[in-house]
Amino acid sequence: MSLFRTKPIETDLEKQTGLKRSLNAFDLVMLGIGAIIGTGIFVLTGKAAAVNAGPAVVLSFIVAGTACTFAALSYAELSSSIGGAGSAYGYGYAGLGEWPAWIIGWMLVLEYAVAVPAVSAGWSEYLNNGLQAIGSGLPAALTHSFLDTQHPGLVNLPAVLIIATLGFVLAKGAKVGAVLNAVIVAVKLATIFLFIGVAVFHVDPTLWHPFIPAEVIDADGTSHFGWGGVFDGASKIFFAYLGFDAVSTAAEETKKPSRDLPIGILGSLGACTILYIVVSGLLTGIVPYSTLNVGSPVAYSLLQIGQKTAAGLISIGAIAGLTTVMLVMFYGLTRVLFAISRDGLLPPFFARLHPTTQTPVGSIIAAGGVMLLLGGFVPLGELADTANIGTLGAFVIACVGVLVLRRTRPDLKRPFRAPFGPLLPVLGVLSCGYLMTRLGHTTWTAFAIWLVIGQAIYFGYSRRHAVLARAA
Ligand code: ALA
Repeated sequence: MSLFRTKPIETDLEKQTGLKRSLNAFDLVMLGIGAIIGTGIFVLTGKAAAVNAGPAVVLSFIVAGTACTFAALSYAELSSSIGGAGSAYGYGYAGLGEWPAWIIGWMLVLEYAVAVPAVSAGWSEYLNNGLQAIGSGLPAALTHSFLDTQHPGLVNLPAVLIIATLGFVLAKGAKVGAVLNAVIVAVKLATIFLFIGVAVFHVDPTLWHPFIPAEVIDADGTSHFGWGGVFDGASKIFFAYLGFDAVSTAAEETKKPSRDLPIGILGSLGACTILYIVVSGLLTGIVPYSTLNVGSPVAYSLLQIGQKTAAGLISIGAIAGLTTVMLVMFYGLTRVLFAISRDGLLPPFFARLHPTTQTPVGSIIAAGGVMLLLGGFVPLGELADTANIGTLGAFVIACVGVLVLRRTRPDLKRPFRAPFGPLLPVLGVLSCGYLMTRLGHTTWTAFAIWLVIGQAIYFGYSRRHAVLARAA
């Protein structure tokens, strides 16, 4: 059936594709860490501790990190054995068929296109906090949109400017992006180690008791804490892990993808998981978890223990961290759009390359334009959950893809194979699926609307314009 027509599996992963192969395994780990550590740890951890899980936010990180690891192992297997850019979308097209691949791609577009402006709003807050600290904060009219009911302004100008700047950097070429990214990642890691180095001497172990606070139910039926809170917290701070999948979108620009992609994916995820567990544990060990529902909990906690200089430096690091998150997610988004368009499922504009830098300027302009509007005019605080649901959905299908492909193509060369037979991909489906169920009604509604729009585009345009349809 044409819905499930598949692209031939590309086993020569190193062949030339038109994009320049300039990235190595180190660049990919940096790309991954650049995309992963950001709003999740610097902002969302505080709320998850104060509202959902208490000190057991550490367990939330372990739960979410475990679900991600299952998905990452599947990603690593797919990325080492099937060629093609576009992340899980490309693997889906070869392994599962066009329609499931479109759905995965469409979910990834949601993930990145919502995450980048959401992070840009946090970036703008941090920047303005920093400017205020040196006595020259921006007026509210230039930091909040007129659609923001809590703090009405005109436009979130810093958010617009950072997205535009990153679009320009990406258009200049992948290597520029990767070098800049590596420098900023180093700053970000230094910041995290600074926090760890300072906080570890101020831990009050009594703050970890009770580790899992007893469940509380509000008048409106909302539940907090208890084991339910741990899982709710996991579904929220899942955002902190978003981004490792962006590594796989760089397949066509990687020198030796079959070896470098698994290293990039698993290496960056492993490093971030350890850092998150340590940071969230220290955070709830130096101040009462109930006080952490603030915009910048990491810096705030240091201020509470009298570490002003460290708090200021953390803010600078957070700005750097948020910048790389946006850079890599923006990069991933343009590569997914490029790959989908090259397959004919989106109009050819999205696959247009710049004649000298060979970067997909069509996708950069289109995605950047939409995200400028979202970042500048839409208050996106709550939309992290929407990015989570899109990602979790894509992960579920990617894990199913591994299982299907092992049956349909047992002969395929798999330089990396997830161990223990079907166990890990199955656990990936179950754990990511379960975290989806912990997300709220609004998130599910937004997700459903997005999927319906996706179906309209697929059946209205993509199916007929697919390169495979024309070839048939
Ligand atoms: N993982 C990224 C962050 O936490 C999206 O900002």
